[in-house]
Amino acid sequence: MADAPSLNTVPHHVAIVMDGNGRWAKRRLMPRIAGHRQGVESLRRCIRACVKRGVGVLTVFAFSSENWGRPQDEVSGLMELMGKALVREVPELKEAGIRLHFVGDRQGLPERMRQSLTQAEAATADNRGMVLNVCFNYGGRWDIAQAAAQLAARGEPITESALDRALALSHGPDPDLLIRTGGEQRISNFLLWQCAYSELYFSDRLWPDFDEAALDEAFAAFAERERRFGKTSEQVAAASRAVAH
Ligand code: IPE
Ligand code: IPE
Ligand code: MG
Repeated sequence: MADAPSLNTVPHHVAIVMDGNGRWAKRRLMPRIAGHRQGVESLRRCIRACVKRGVGVLTVFAFSSENWGRPQDEVSGLMELMGKALVREVPELKEAGIRLHFVGDRQGLPERMRQSLTQAEAATADNRGMVLNVCFNYGGRWDIAQAAAQLAARGEPITESALDRALALSHGPDPDLLIRTGGEQRISNFLLWQCAYSELYFSDRLWPDFDEAALDEAFAAFAERERRFGKTSEQVAAASRAVAH
Protein backbone atom coordinates (compact mmCIF):
# COMPACT_ATOMS: atom_id res chain seq x y z
CA MET A 1 0.00 0.00 0.00
CA ALA A 2 1.27 3.47 -0.81
CA ASP A 3 2.11 5.71 2.13
CA ALA A 4 -0.73 8.03 3.07
CA PRO A 5 0.20 11.52 1.87
CA SER A 6 1.45 13.63 4.74
CA LEU A 7 -0.60 16.63 5.81
CA ASN A 8 2.03 18.96 4.49
CA THR A 9 1.13 18.31 0.87
CA VAL A 10 -0.37 21.63 -0.10
CA PRO A 11 1.98 23.20 -2.67
CA HIS A 12 3.48 26.44 -1.41
CA HIS A 13 3.47 28.16 -4.82
CA VAL A 14 0.71 27.30 -7.28
CA ALA A 15 0.77 28.67 -10.84
CA ILE A 16 -2.23 28.41 -13.16
CA VAL A 17 -2.77 28.84 -16.90
CA MET A 18 -6.45 29.72 -16.75
CA ASP A 19 -7.48 28.38 -20.15
CA GLY A 20 -10.84 27.52 -21.69
CA ASN A 21 -12.97 30.64 -21.21
CA GLY A 22 -13.71 30.99 -24.93
CA ARG A 23 -14.82 27.37 -25.31
CA TRP A 24 -16.95 27.63 -22.17
CA ALA A 25 -18.84 30.53 -23.76
CA LYS A 26 -19.02 28.93 -27.20
CA ARG A 27 -20.69 25.82 -25.76
CA ARG A 28 -23.39 28.07 -24.39
CA LEU A 29 -23.69 30.04 -27.63
CA MET A 30 -22.47 33.10 -25.77
CA PRO A 31 -19.86 35.66 -26.88
CA ARG A 32 -16.27 34.84 -25.80
CA ILE A 33 -16.19 37.79 -23.41
CA ALA A 34 -18.97 36.14 -21.38
CA GLY A 35 -16.53 33.26 -20.84
CA HIS A 36 -13.86 35.68 -19.66
CA ARG A 37 -16.35 37.26 -17.26
CA GLN A 38 -17.09 33.81 -15.85
CA GLY A 39 -13.34 33.25 -15.70
CA VAL A 40 -13.03 36.17 -13.27
CA GLU A 41 -15.64 34.50 -11.03
CA SER A 42 -13.68 31.27 -11.17
CA LEU A 43 -10.53 33.14 -10.17
CA ARG A 44 -12.32 34.71 -7.18
CA ARG A 45 -13.36 31.23 -6.05
CA CYS A 46 -9.88 29.83 -6.63
CA ILE A 47 -8.22 32.62 -4.62
CA ARG A 48 -10.50 31.95 -1.66
CA ALA A 49 -9.88 28.21 -1.91
CA CYS A 50 -6.11 28.68 -2.03
CA VAL A 51 -6.15 30.99 1.01
CA LYS A 52 -8.24 28.43 2.89
CA ARG A 53 -5.76 25.66 2.08
CA GLY A 54 -2.71 27.65 3.12
CA VAL A 55 -1.15 28.27 -0.29
CA GLY A 56 1.61 30.88 0.06
CA VAL A 57 1.83 32.17 -3.50
CA LEU A 58 -0.70 31.97 -6.33
CA THR A 59 0.46 33.04 -9.80
CA VAL A 60 -2.11 33.22 -12.59
CA PHE A 61 -1.79 33.82 -16.33
CA ALA A 62 -4.39 36.42 -17.29
CA PHE A 63 -3.14 37.84 -20.61
CA SER A 64 -0.16 36.71 -22.66
CA SER A 65 2.18 38.68 -24.93
CA GLU A 66 0.59 36.71 -27.78
CA ASN A 67 -3.02 37.43 -26.79
CA TRP A 68 -2.76 40.87 -28.48
CA GLY A 69 -3.18 38.94 -31.71
CA ARG A 70 -6.82 38.10 -30.90
CA PRO A 71 -9.73 39.95 -32.53
CA GLN A 72 -9.74 43.62 -31.53
CA ASP A 73 -13.10 43.43 -29.72
CA GLU A 74 -11.90 40.54 -27.55
CA VAL A 75 -8.66 42.37 -26.65
CA SER A 76 -10.50 45.56 -25.70
CA GLY A 77 -13.10 43.50 -23.82
CA LEU A 78 -10.33 41.84 -21.81
CA MET A 79 -8.70 45.21 -21.01
CA GLU A 80 -12.04 46.56 -19.86
CA LEU A 81 -12.68 43.49 -17.75
CA MET A 82 -9.30 43.89 -16.08
CA GLY A 83 -10.02 47.56 -15.33
CA LYS A 84 -13.38 46.69 -13.77
CA ALA A 85 -12.01 43.73 -11.82
CA LEU A 86 -9.36 46.02 -10.28
CA VAL A 87 -11.98 48.46 -9.03
CA ARG A 88 -14.26 45.74 -7.76
CA GLU A 89 -11.81 43.23 -6.29
CA VAL A 90 -8.99 45.25 -4.72
CA PRO A 91 -10.87 46.26 -1.54
CA GLU A 92 -11.78 42.62 -0.93
CA LEU A 93 -8.24 41.40 -1.59
CA LYS A 94 -6.94 44.05 0.77
CA GLU A 95 -9.37 42.92 3.43
CA ALA A 96 -8.31 39.29 2.97
CA GLY A 97 -4.64 40.18 3.60
CA ILE A 98 -3.61 39.28 0.06
CA ARG A 99 -0.62 41.00 -1.48
CA LEU A 100 -1.10 41.71 -5.16
CA HIS A 101 1.64 41.92 -7.81
CA PHE A 102 1.28 42.41 -11.54
CA VAL A 103 3.93 40.72 -13.60
CA GLY A 104 4.44 41.63 -17.24
CA ASP A 105 5.43 44.31 -19.70
CA ARG A 106 3.79 47.50 -18.45
CA GLN A 107 5.27 49.66 -21.21
CA GLY A 108 2.92 47.96 -23.62
CA LEU A 109 -0.18 48.90 -21.60
CA PRO A 110 -2.28 52.08 -21.78
CA GLU A 111 -1.18 54.75 -19.27
CA ARG A 112 -4.45 54.58 -17.31
CA MET A 113 -4.14 50.84 -16.89
CA ARG A 114 -0.54 51.21 -15.74
CA GLN A 115 -1.65 53.64 -13.05
CA SER A 116 -4.43 51.33 -11.84
CA LEU A 117 -2.01 48.42 -11.57
CA THR A 118 0.44 50.50 -9.52
CA GLN A 119 -2.36 51.77 -7.26
CA ALA A 120 -3.71 48.26 -6.70
CA GLU A 121 -0.24 47.04 -5.74
CA ALA A 122 0.27 49.96 -3.38
CA ALA A 123 -3.10 49.33 -1.72
CA THR A 124 -2.10 45.79 -0.74
CA ALA A 125 1.66 46.32 -0.26
CA ASP A 126 1.50 46.03 3.54
CA ASN A 127 -0.45 42.79 3.49
CA ARG A 128 1.31 39.69 4.72
CA GLY A 129 -1.09 36.93 3.65
CA MET A 130 -1.07 35.02 0.37
CA VAL A 131 0.83 36.62 -2.51
CA LEU A 132 -1.20 36.87 -5.71
CA ASN A 133 0.82 37.39 -8.89
CA VAL A 134 -1.30 38.30 -11.90
CA CYS A 135 0.65 37.82 -15.13
CA PHE A 136 -0.72 40.40 -17.51
CA ASN A 137 0.89 41.23 -20.85
CA TYR A 138 3.35 38.60 -19.76
CA GLY A 139 5.49 36.14 -21.68
CA GLY A 140 8.24 33.90 -20.31
CA ARG A 141 10.50 34.89 -23.21
CA TRP A 142 9.84 38.58 -22.60
CA ASP A 143 10.83 38.14 -18.96
CA ILE A 144 14.10 36.32 -19.69
CA ALA A 145 15.01 38.86 -22.40
CA GLN A 146 14.25 41.89 -20.21
CA ALA A 147 16.23 40.39 -17.33
CA ALA A 148 19.24 39.77 -19.62
CA ALA A 149 18.94 43.32 -21.00
CA GLN A 150 19.01 44.74 -17.45
CA LEU A 151 22.19 42.84 -16.62
CA ALA A 152 23.82 43.84 -19.91
CA ALA A 153 22.96 47.51 -19.32
CA ARG A 154 24.61 47.34 -15.88
CA GLY A 155 27.59 45.45 -17.30
CA GLU A 156 26.89 42.55 -14.90
CA PRO A 157 27.95 39.01 -15.78
CA ILE A 158 25.01 36.89 -16.88
CA THR A 159 24.86 34.10 -14.30
CA GLU A 160 21.88 31.97 -13.28
CA SER A 161 21.47 33.71 -9.95
CA ALA A 162 21.85 37.23 -11.43
CA LEU A 163 19.26 36.45 -14.12
CA ASP A 164 16.97 34.92 -11.52
CA ARG A 165 17.06 38.14 -9.49
CA ALA A 166 16.41 40.35 -12.53
CA LEU A 167 13.26 38.54 -13.62
CA ALA A 168 9.93 40.31 -13.23
CA LEU A 169 8.78 37.34 -11.18
CA SER A 170 11.78 37.16 -8.87
CA HIS A 171 10.01 37.74 -5.56
CA GLY A 172 9.42 34.36 -3.99
CA PRO A 173 10.26 30.79 -4.84
CA ASP A 174 9.58 28.92 -8.09
CA PRO A 175 6.15 27.29 -8.53
CA ASP A 176 5.78 23.85 -6.95
CA LEU A 177 2.70 23.01 -8.97
CA LEU A 178 1.75 24.38 -12.39
CA ILE A 179 -1.86 23.70 -13.37
CA ARG A 180 -3.27 24.22 -16.86
CA THR A 181 -7.00 23.93 -17.38
CA GLY A 182 -8.81 23.60 -20.70
CA GLY A 183 -7.27 20.33 -21.87
CA GLU A 184 -4.21 21.60 -23.75
CA GLN A 185 -0.88 20.17 -22.64
CA ARG A 186 1.49 23.05 -23.31
CA ILE A 187 3.13 25.94 -21.50
CA SER A 188 2.21 28.70 -24.01
CA ASN A 189 5.10 30.98 -22.97
CA PHE A 190 4.16 31.01 -19.27
CA LEU A 191 6.89 30.74 -16.60
CA LEU A 192 9.62 29.34 -18.86
CA TRP A 193 12.46 29.98 -16.42
CA GLN A 194 10.64 29.34 -13.16
CA CYS A 195 8.89 26.07 -14.10
CA ALA A 196 12.17 24.16 -14.50
CA TYR A 197 11.21 21.83 -11.63
CA SER A 198 7.50 22.51 -11.19
CA GLU A 199 5.14 19.56 -11.18
CA LEU A 200 2.82 19.89 -14.18
CA TYR A 201 -0.88 19.09 -13.92
CA PHE A 202 -3.28 19.28 -16.84
CA SER A 203 -7.02 19.35 -16.32
CA ASP A 204 -9.65 18.88 -19.02
CA ARG A 205 -11.99 21.22 -17.17
CA LEU A 206 -12.50 24.61 -18.76
CA TRP A 207 -11.33 27.40 -16.45
CA PRO A 208 -14.84 28.67 -15.53
CA ASP A 209 -15.68 25.10 -14.40
CA PHE A 210 -12.52 24.64 -12.34
CA ASP A 211 -13.98 24.54 -8.83
CA GLU A 212 -12.69 23.72 -5.33
CA ALA A 213 -13.07 19.98 -5.87
CA ALA A 214 -11.00 20.22 -9.05
CA LEU A 215 -8.33 22.16 -7.14
CA ASP A 216 -8.28 19.47 -4.47
CA GLU A 217 -7.82 16.82 -7.18
CA ALA A 218 -4.82 18.75 -8.47
CA PHE A 219 -3.37 19.02 -4.95
CA ALA A 220 -3.97 15.30 -4.35
CA ALA A 221 -2.11 14.48 -7.59
CA PHE A 222 0.72 16.78 -6.47
CA ALA A 223 0.90 14.99 -3.12
CA GLU A 224 1.58 11.72 -4.93
CA ARG A 225 4.52 13.05 -6.94
CA GLU A 226 8.10 12.36 -5.97
CA ARG A 227 10.18 15.46 -6.63
CA ARG A 228 13.73 14.37 -7.24
CA PHE A 229 15.43 17.53 -8.55
CA GLY A 230 17.91 15.44 -10.49
CA LYS A 231 18.71 13.09 -7.59
CA THR A 232 17.80 9.42 -7.13
CA SER A 233 14.72 8.12 -5.40
CA GLU A 234 16.90 6.63 -2.64
CA GLN A 235 18.57 9.98 -1.95
CA VAL A 236 15.18 11.68 -1.74
CA ALA A 237 13.88 9.05 0.70
CA ALA A 238 17.01 9.36 2.88
CA ALA A 239 16.70 13.17 2.95
CA SER A 240 13.05 13.05 4.01
CA ARG A 241 13.85 10.50 6.76
CA ALA A 242 16.56 12.85 8.02
CA VAL A 243 14.07 15.74 8.15
CA ALA A 244 11.53 13.58 10.01
CA HIS A 245 14.05 12.75 12.78
C1 IPE B 1 -7.99 31.82 -21.51
O1 IPE B 1 -9.13 31.39 -22.14
C2 IPE B 1 -8.04 33.30 -21.17
C3 IPE B 1 -7.17 34.13 -22.00
C4 IPE B 1 -6.29 33.70 -22.87
C5 IPE B 1 -7.28 35.57 -21.81
P1 IPE B 1 -9.21 31.38 -23.73
O2 IPE B 1 -9.85 32.65 -24.18
O3 IPE B 1 -7.91 31.07 -24.34
O4 IPE B 1 -10.23 30.18 -23.96
P2 IPE B 1 -10.18 29.12 -25.15
O5 IPE B 1 -8.86 28.43 -25.09
O6 IPE B 1 -10.38 29.88 -26.42
O7 IPE B 1 -11.32 28.21 -24.84
C1 IPE C 1 -2.55 30.95 -22.50
O1 IPE C 1 -3.72 30.57 -23.13
C2 IPE C 1 -2.66 32.37 -22.01
C3 IPE C 1 -3.58 32.62 -20.91
C4 IPE C 1 -4.30 31.73 -20.28
C5 IPE C 1 -3.66 33.99 -20.49
P1 IPE C 1 -3.89 30.68 -24.72
O2 IPE C 1 -5.28 30.23 -25.01
O3 IPE C 1 -3.50 32.01 -25.21
O4 IPE C 1 -2.83 29.61 -25.26
P2 IPE C 1 -2.76 28.85 -26.65
O5 IPE C 1 -2.92 29.87 -27.71
O6 IPE C 1 -3.88 27.85 -26.69
O7 IPE C 1 -1.44 28.16 -26.66
MG1 MG D 1 -7.02 29.32 -24.86
